[in-house]
Amino acid sequence: MTQNIKGFSKLSKEEKIDWITNTYFSNPTEAKNIVTQYWNTSENLQKLHDEFIENTLTNFYLPYGVAPNFNINGKSYTIPMAIEESSVVAAASKAAKFWDERGGFKTTVINTEKIGQVHFLFKGSTEKLTAFFNTIKPQFFKETESFTKNMQKRGGGILDIELRDKTNELENYFQLHATFNTKDSMGANFINTCLEQFAKTLEHEAHDYADFDDNEKNIQVIMSILSNYVPNCIVRAEVSCPVNQMSDDKNIDSREFAEKFVNAIKIAEIEPYRAVTHNKGIMNGIDAVVLATGNDFRAIEAGIHAYASKDGKYTSLSHAKIENDIFTFWMEIPLALGTIGGLTSLHPLVKFSLEMLENPSAEELMQIVAVTGLAQNFAAVRSLTTTGIQKGHMKMHINNILNQHHATKEEKHLVLDYFKNNTISHSLVVDYLESLRK
Ligand code: MEV
Repeated sequence: MTQNIKGFSKLSKEEKIDWITNTYFSNPTEAKNIVTQYWNTSENLQKLHDEFIENTLTNFYLPYGVAPNFNINGKSYTIPMAIEESSVVAAASKAAKFWDERGGFKTTVINTEKIGQVHFLFKGSTEKLTAFFNTIKPQFFKETESFTKNMQKRGGGILDIELRDKTNELENYFQLHATFNTKDSMGANFINTCLEQFAKTLEHEAHDYADFDDNEKNIQVIMSILSNYVPNCIVRAEVSCPVNQMSDDKNIDSREFAEKFVNAIKIAEIEPYRAVTHNKGIMNGIDAVVLATGNDFRAIEAGIHAYASKDGKYTSLSHAKIENDIFTFWMEIPLALGTIGGLTSLHPLVKFSLEMLENPSAEELMQIVAVTGLAQNFAAVRSLTTTGIQKGHMKMHINNILNQHHATKEEKHLVLDYFKNNTISHSLVVDYLESLRK
């Protein structure tokens, strides 16, 4: 039966846990122990986490690992990754080493423009609205000066504001479409603050505009919000090497592998079912670094997948070719990231990640994140087109299966030894463990 409660957020943390455990659990004491065992022993650190969100009961841990040996434009990085999927960090590390031996990753930030919009309804003459917009445009900049002053000192600010007529798609619908440079901050708060001021300026200026009739004076702002679609905030990551260096395994022929790899990418380019999984592999790397560096992975996911369908059909984010016996693999993706503001100075592990990356600028972080995505994609497609994905994946996952079945140290040792040379699957591991126990 559903239980409702009034004033839940006003309860203390202990009271919230008591209510939850007594309401939903057959064994409230055991449930309470599960929740409280994840509390941090440092009261200050726990308080910090409690205050990140509303109604915090406890912490939800993800493993935090690192992938060393990333050579990006000749500079070496150890990349922090927060992720629960067994094989991702190992795959990234392997790909980093492989490409380090072949000249490393090359990256370029193509542009860094962020976008925000004020969506509004205007009933009247479009010509008059355009004239009004052109007259009051300087006011938008003037009335946001108190917020833009600091951003301008850092070399950023509002780049431009356009009036866009969307009435073909929705009656009376127009937009202020604004572009921003937010330098090393992701800029969500800055952009939204500017947009909300644009909306106020728009409304009050319209009200006082002599050429407007009563209907036209009553502009109705629907909402003001940044866009997580940032097709002009793009980073490119690339690797290349002679085709004959593509294999580091004597059982795999370099040319055959390179050609199979290019075909695997072509399949992801034309087949959306494959493209989604292909891109998911890229996001394994991207999300892990985005999380570890305190950025908003939902925003990044939304923006990247929208970009993957920018030409009207969902497609692969990465591309590959062989030309003049050179294999090249590359990707261009939108990434609106920050290395200041948000969680970056609040979450101790985020600070740790950024220091490990030698306190990168947002542009540098864009390059690091894109490279991790490309490395992850390379590792996944290499496994898929050679050994198959399950070999590496299950090798890492085997520990999860053993822990799930409470294997002892000796049992783990025997099982790992046995499966070094045998096909791994969940049921085969469990069967073998049971056979040991008989
Ligand atoms: C699994 O998390 C990711 C892969 O499915 C990616 C891919 O298929 O390319 C292995």
